[in-house]
Amino acid sequence: MANSLWAGRFSKEVDSKVNDFNSSISFDGRMYRQDIKGSMAHAEMLGKQGIIDIHESEKIIAGLKSILEDIDSGKIMLDPNAEDIHMFVEQELTNRLGDTGKRLHTARSRNDQVALDIRLYLKDEIDEILPMVKELMKTVCDIAEKNLDTVMCGYTHLQRAQPITLAHHLMAYANMLSRDVDRLKDTRKRMDRCPLGSGALASTTYPIDRKLTADLLGFEDITQNSLDGVSDRDFCIELASALSILMMHLSRFSEEIILWCSWEFKFIELDDAYATGSSIMPQKKNPDITELIRGKTGRVYGDLNTLLTMMKGLPLAYNKDMQEDKEAIFDAIDTVKLCIGTFIPMLATMRVNKENMRAAAAKGFINATDCADYLVKKGLPFRDAYKITGTLVARCIELNTTLEALPLEEYKKLCDTFENDVYEAISLDTCVNMRKVPGGPAPESVMMQIEYIRAFFLDM
Ligand code: ARG
Repeated sequence: MANSLWAGRFSKEVDSKVNDFNSSISFDGRMYRQDIKGSMAHAEMLGKQGIIDIHESEKIIAGLKSILEDIDSGKIMLDPNAEDIHMFVEQELTNRLGDTGKRLHTARSRNDQVALDIRLYLKDEIDEILPMVKELMKTVCDIAEKNLDTVMCGYTHLQRAQPITLAHHLMAYANMLSRDVDRLKDTRKRMDRCPLGSGALASTTYPIDRKLTADLLGFEDITQNSLDGVSDRDFCIELASALSILMMHLSRFSEEIILWCSWEFKFIELDDAYATGSSIMPQKKNPDITELIRGKTGRVYGDLNTLLTMMKGLPLAYNKDMQEDKEAIFDAIDTVKLCIGTFIPMLATMRVNKENMRAAAAKGFINATDCADYLVKKGLPFRDAYKITGTLVARCIELNTTLEALPLEEYKKLCDTFENDVYEAISLDTCVNMRKVPGGPAPESVMMQIEYIRAFFLDM
């Protein structure tokens, strides 16, 4: 019976509805490894410091190890009636060891215990998410390398703007993802402080060795104030924020894929394994994965909001409200992992329709800037060149033609500086290939962008 842990102060059992209401084991049970690992380190420290007998410490550690093995192997199940994972493990230990088990919680509170568990758990999760983001970046770089000369239209305001390549476009996402990697690492660094020893809020009178427990658990350092140690959830909020930004990037990428799959664009086609049909319209092939990612982005933003709102009115130190941190941050983590895991193979298998991309780029006068630049390079002030080109575009629209197909006489009517070499200057390939400044769309420039991402993010 979970309640028996505080039986001394209470004269009757907690109402069963209240018990269910208070219980967090249905969602914090997933931290059992971290909880047990934390308890093992705590027990070792208690023994080394002579706070409990060294033999009892050894027994506790062995007992905890056997509980871990039994949960891992499915030999024992988490008791849904336990209030939380911390109570469950302690109760199970006491069932196995008797009085020795009851010594584990010396110089510790569930408040510093839960603050520890969640940090350990989230560090482990970041260590799983980081390689996933890198895998996605690798996929993006590989597709980009195959499309260095796949000319496409770049957009602003979703209006055709200037020629770029698919590789250039994709590498924008690789750069966004590289910042996500940085943010996740940064978040991990700040949460890498061990709060154990903060006790309920005011630390403890026992001669504990906080550095030792921190070292045993692989923390870089200890938290510096016991009140903050138990009541800080900044690291959850930072992680939810980093994950929200990551989801925003995936959502933008998804939105483009949705557009590119449409008949209006037809820039790409998803593999049949990563698209769905309609129950009524036989012609349909829907990009459901990307729509779901776009939709699930809202969930993660919601999780971030839950955490921010949960914390904003809390007086120091621990308050039970903080139990709500877990479902929110776990949901954000699960959602991100699910989305990246599905997005990668979908991206890797999509087919690029190079001809359609180029055909779309050939319309819409996206070489107009280059036409103006042609005149500037021959000595005209940019504003004059801009005006002349604008008039040329209007003339093309009138004649239902393009700048490439407009006869030289039409050019010359507006400005005598135009010669036959204008056609070379405004060809889509020239427009792309001449933009070879760092960051630009020329194949050699994009190759440098790919190499940069590979060297600094993927080869580590
Ligand atoms: N289940 C609790 C949580 O997740 C653990 C800490 C409870 N502490 C307490 N004094 N009630 O926050």
